[in-house]
Amino acid sequence: MADRIVLAYSGGLDTSVAIRWLKEKYGYEVIAAIIDVGNEKDFSAVNEKALQVGAIKAMAVDAKKAFVNDYIFPALKAGAMYEGVYPMATALARPLIAQILAKIAQQEGAVAIAHGCTGKGNDQVRFEVTINALTSQIKIIAPAREWGMTREETICYAERHSIPIPVKSGHAYSIDENIWGRSIECGMLEDPWNEPPEEVYAWTKSAKDAPDEPGYHEICFEKGIPVALDGQMTNGLDLIQKLNELAGLHGVGRIDHVENRLVGIKSREIYEAPAAITLLKAHQALESLTLAKDQSRFKQKVTQEFSDIIYNGLWFTAGRQDLCAYIDSTQRFVSGTVRIKLYKGCCTVVGRKSMHSLYSHNLATYEEGDQFDQSTAPGFIHLYGLPVKTQAKLQPIFEQAENK
Ligand code: ARG
Repeated sequence: MADRIVLAYSGGLDTSVAIRWLKEKYGYEVIAAIIDVGNEKDFSAVNEKALQVGAIKAMAVDAKKAFVNDYIFPALKAGAMYEGVYPMATALARPLIAQILAKIAQQEGAVAIAHGCTGKGNDQVRFEVTINALTSQIKIIAPAREWGMTREETICYAERHSIPIPVKSGHAYSIDENIWGRSIECGMLEDPWNEPPEEVYAWTKSAKDAPDEPGYHEICFEKGIPVALDGQMTNGLDLIQKLNELAGLHGVGRIDHVENRLVGIKSREIYEAPAAITLLKAHQALESLTLAKDQSRFKQKVTQEFSDIIYNGLWFTAGRQDLCAYIDSTQRFVSGTVRIKLYKGCCTVVGRKSMHSLYSHNLATYEEGDQFDQSTAPGFIHLYGLPVKTQAKLQPIFEQAENK
C-alpha cells in the first residue's frame, strides 16, 4: 500500500495540480482536506473536484465556530492588528487549519502533510511551525515551493492532466478569505503606486455607491466578546457574518497596506474586513470607558506583542497563552453597548455605555452637580511639577525668563 499524505485543499489551481503532482512525484495517496473557516465556497463541489483530480479521499471540516471562538475572539479582545492596520484574518486561520491537518493525518495514518503555499510568504511558516509543534515525525511537503513551475507552466500542467482550471483570464490576483476578512495580492497591485481597481473588492461597496443615509447599529459586549447586535442576542459567527454585510454595504473595512513580511520582504496588500474593523473599533471604545489609564497603556504594549506573535506563526506557544491570560483578565469589566454609525466608508463610534463605566459625570461636568474639588488642583500641580522646577533651577537646560 502506498503512503498517504493529507493535503490542505482549496479547490484552486495550485492545490488541484498538487494532488496530481504528489502522486506522480512521490507516489503518495492523497487525502484532500477542505477546511471551512468561512471561505464561502460550495464545499461539495470542491470535494467532488478533489476526487475527480485524483485524491483517494476528500473531506470537508466545518471549522467556523472554532475559528470564531478560539481565534477571532481572543484576537478581538487583544485588539490585534498587525502594524496597526491588518486584523490578520489569514494569520489567525493558519494555526487552526494546521491543527486540523495534524489531527486528520493522525486519524488517517498519513506519513506526510502538504500545503499549497509558496516559499515567499508567511503562510508556509505558520503552517509548518504549527504542524511541527503538534506532531512528531510527520513530513511536510510544499509542492508549489518545490516544483519550480511558473503560473503559466502550472496552467499547462493542469491542461495536460485535464485538471479543470478555475482562474479567469485577466484576474491575476491571489486571494485568501475567511469570515474575519479577505486579502488580495499580486497583479497590478504589486506596484504600490497603483490605486486598487474596484474589481478587487468583493465585500465592500465604494463610498461613492454606498447609501446616502448612514446606518446606525448597537453592539453589545460581555467581557470583551460581542453577544448581541441591535438588541438581539446573536452567536459570534452570525454576528460577524451580519456585520460583514452591514458594514460592507457602507464601504467600511477597505485597507491598503505595504506590509513587512516575516520572510524579509515588503509586500503590498489589499484587505477587506468590514466586521473586523467595526468590532475592533467598537471594542476599543468600550475599553476606553471601562479600563483605567494604566491598564489601557500597558495593554497597548501587549496588543503589539500579541499581534506580532500571531502574524509570525507563533500561536502554539506558551508566550501566546500567557498574553491571552493577561488579556482575558483585562476584559473582566469590558461589558456594555457601543453605538456605531456606518457612513460612506467610515465606521464611527457615536455612543457607548457600560454598567462598569469609569466615566463619572459628576467629576467631568462643567455644569450643575460638579463634585470635582478645584481647590486641590494647585497642590497637585505644585508636587507634580516639583522635580521639573528643581531641575530647571539647578541645571542650565533652559534659559530662565528674568522677571524684573
Ligand atoms: N499578507 C497576509 C498575511 O500574511 C495575507 C496573505 C494571504 N494570502 C493571499 N494569497 N492573499 O497574513
